Amino acid sequence: MSYRSIAIDGPSGAGKSTLAKRLAQELGFLYVDTGAIYRTVGLAARSRGADPDREAEVAAVLPQLAITMGYGEDGLQHMFLDGQDVTAAIRENEISAWASKVAALPAVREFLLEMQRRTAREHDVIMDGRDIGTVVLPQADVKIFLTAAPEARAQRRFRELLERGQQADFDQVLREVVERDRRDTQRETAPLRQAEDAVLAETTGLDLEESFRLLLGLIRDRLGVEEENT
Ligand code: DC
Repeated sequence: MSYRSIAIDGPSGAGKSTLAKRLAQELGFLYVDTGAIYRTVGLAARSRGADPDREAEVAAVLPQLAITMGYGEDGLQHMFLDGQDVTAAIRENEISAWASKVAALPAVREFLLEMQRRTAREHDVIMDGRDIGTVVLPQADVKIFLTAAPEARAQRRFRELLERGQQADFDQVLREVVERDRRDTQRETAPLRQAEDAVLAETTGLDLEESFRLLLGLIRDRLGVEEENT
């Protein structure tokens, strides 16, 4: 049987993971957070002392890594590195920059491509990332490019960090968002860009509930799925 796939791409802090998680629950799809996979490679590069700006150093580490995804009873994705659950560790603010740097390396993208495609061959998936609609799943049934103004995204990231009890400075978070946008959109391999057949969803003025309704309507429409309850 063939499975359905929904690709959600966009810059960091656009609300992809929060929305994709809820949409997956609503639709009964598996949620795949591909950023978490890049974060796991970033964490591994850091712990092994590989310079993330040097492709050869990171590439040398890749074959030694056992990276797996697992799903807990809560249905949420957990990341494992060499058998250790690193789900929380990869969320540290510092790992964002490492992830963004290793994600620019063709060797890393190539290494992770099959893992992502295999998951989509085996499940109905809603997958979020930067190149899902353009590179990983070009045949996805629904493609959404989710974005919001940098200030709105930095504000969300800032609140998220504070809620997790991490120290944060808004101006610095905004600078980091802008810097990551630059790196993610300007890299040569699989840069962040809207696929030609993706629907643009701009959420700057929308709250989470409004964004959720917008995407759900759009997906149901594209998949030809009826609303179950009113
Ligand atoms: O979505 P996130 O912030 O957890 O992603 C971490 C980094 O990984 C981000 O800088 C972009 C990169 N990434 C990517 O290049 N391709 C993807 N499919 C997902 C994430």
